[in-house]
Amino acid sequence: MFKLCLVLILLIAIDASPVQSGSLSCSGNISASDVDRVHFALNLEFTEAEFFLKGATGKGLDAFNATLAKGGPPPVGAKKANLDPITKRIIEEFGYQEIGHLRAITDMTGGIPRPLINLTRENFAVFMDRAVGRRSNPRFDPYANSLNYLLASYYIPYVGLTGYVGAIPYLVYFNIKRLVAGLLGVESGQDAVIRTLLYERQNETVEEYGGVTVAELTNEISNLRNELGMCGIKDEGLCVPLWLGAENRTTSNILSANPYSLSYDRTAQEILRVMYGTGDEHRPGGFWPCGANGRIARMFLDEGCYGDCVCSHDN
Ligand SMILES: *[C@@H]1O[C@H](CO)[C@@H](O)[C@H](O)[C@H]1NC(C)=O
Ligand SMILES: *[C@@H]1O[C@H](CO)[C@@H](O)[C@H](O)[C@H]1NC(C)=O
Ligand SMILES: *[C@@H]1O[C@H](CO)[C@@H](O)[C@H](O)[C@H]1NC(C)=O
Ligand SMILES: *[C@@H]1O[C@H](CO)[C@@H](O)[C@H](O)[C@H]1NC(C)=O
Ligand SMILES: *[C@@H]1O[C@H](CO)[C@@H](O)[C@H](O)[C@H]1NC(C)=O
Repeated sequence: MFKLCLVLILLIAIDASPVQSGSLSCSGNISASDVDRVHFALNLEFTEAEFFLKGATGKGLDAFNATLAKGGPPPVGAKKANLDPITKRIIEEFGYQEIGHLRAITDMTGGIPRPLINLTRENFAVFMDRAVGRRSNPRFDPYANSLNYLLASYYIPYVGLTGYVGAIPYLVYFNIKRLVAGLLGVESGQDAVIRTLLYERQNETVEEYGGVTVAELTNEISNLRNELGMCGIKDEGLCVPLWLGAENRTTSNILSANPYSLSYDRTAQEILRVMYGTGDEHRPGGFWPCGANGRIARMFLDEGCYGDCVCSHDN
């Protein structure tokens, strides 16, 4: 573990240097209403809903509530994962919680159409390969077993959590603040559970990447997100150098947090860069190949078709 942390000090030092552009895009102070900001969050909630529901039950959001997607296209690629019984129960509960979150936002604000969401095995493998820096062999499959599914889940609620932390200071209205506070609570709980389950397995190696351990892989995913987000360190893996640990006293890092042990925040632009996988809020791809929906995401996009996606629906 000690050796591992030394390697990580180097990785993090290298990754942290070219960032902090200081540009507007690291500031959440964009011209947007409270409703725009919660609509933006729906993109992540839709993504989690489908990944968790399909992964645990084999059925997607539309099988539970067909109106919440507001006519948006069905996600591609999600399927029932080969989960052990405890993980299945946990993920199933998370999936139902996501339906609740979608209903809460929709009931209060009317909602937006679901974006096209890419949850294919190949999309996860592409992100994972980039994080590790080499091609998985056999190809990484998030749906193959509980460990892979948890590693893939490491990609999602945490991004939502940082988005809520980033949005709350800019909210104006009591009802929306109360809604987002409640969403943040459960989102961060989900992230904590996923990270704890992975922490227990930190020394296991991931077959698809040879000798890489679970702890190293989480660090590499977090580093990738920091690179794509381009606003400094907002993301930390399960084992960190002491200077990133709580009060500089521990290398365990079950929760990712800043030097005051407060959650990191991300702006909408950072989240788009990370979820598109392009490092550019103007260039869709990754999980949202046709771009995210809602006024905030759309103000960074031109009209018409985006990226390489197949635009079979009207926007
Ligand atoms: C992982 O390995 C390190 C170093 O061998 C050991 O100190 C630690 O207790 C192990 N952690 C778990 C959760 O097995
Ligand atoms: C956000 O921008 C507006 C308009 O430029 C400015 O008045 C306000 O003080 C800014 N708020 C923060 C928290 O930076
Ligand atoms: C779907 O969610 C909406 C919004 O909360 C709710 O009004 C509706 O009853 C739900 N439909 C089903 C089938 O549960
Ligand atoms: C999903 O992502 C994979 C990997 O990048 C890509 O091959 C596939 O075309 C994408 N699917 C859609 C519908 O965008
Ligand atoms: C921990 O170390 C970092 C970097 O050396 C420093 O900025 C921070 O103030 C330290 N935190 C505490 C609580 O001592």
